[in-house]
Amino acid sequence: MDNQPTDEAEARQQPGVARVYRNEQIAVTWEPALCIHVGHCFRDLPEVFQPQNRPWVNINGATADRIAEQVRKCPSGALRFVRLDGAAAEPPPSEVTIDVRPNGPLLVKGTVHLRGADGQLIREITQCALCRCGHSENKPFCDATHRRIGFRAP
Ligand code: SF4
Ligand code: FES
Repeated sequence: MDNQPTDEAEARQQPGVARVYRNEQIAVTWEPALCIHVGHCFRDLPEVFQPQNRPWVNINGATADRIAEQVRKCPSGALRFVRLDGAAAEPPPSEVTIDVRPNGPLLVKGTVHLRGADGQLIREITQCALCRCGHSENKPFCDATHRRIGFRAP
């Protein structure tokens, strides 16, 4: 897809690397390694999410409420936010749901503790996309490789 929110400075493969965009009402973080470039953010709220620009998040392009609403829809959990104006943060869903995307990742919603094979906590997360094709270079997370390799689910 064109217009992907990446550049060399935001290397996808550095775990935990995050960018922060803030004003007095809200701070939005973006973790490039988790972004699967499905584009909900820049299609639905182009006043704020502008992959052709640097910085690509125009934090003053909409109200904090509208930005928070959009960030919650990021399927990979790459976008997150913290309210700085005292507005109540919406609690994560009480149930965990997993949606199998056609020829794509498993979309997880709800608080999950991801543990590695050694039992160590990888991270606690409330939204993420897990690799189903087996080819992600950022396992257990999807990194959109399924699209490049033309993964077809059985
Ligand atoms: S909605 Fe999330 S996963 Fe999709 S392009 Fe935006 S940041 Fe990336
Ligand atoms: S399902 Fe997306 S990289 Fe494997």
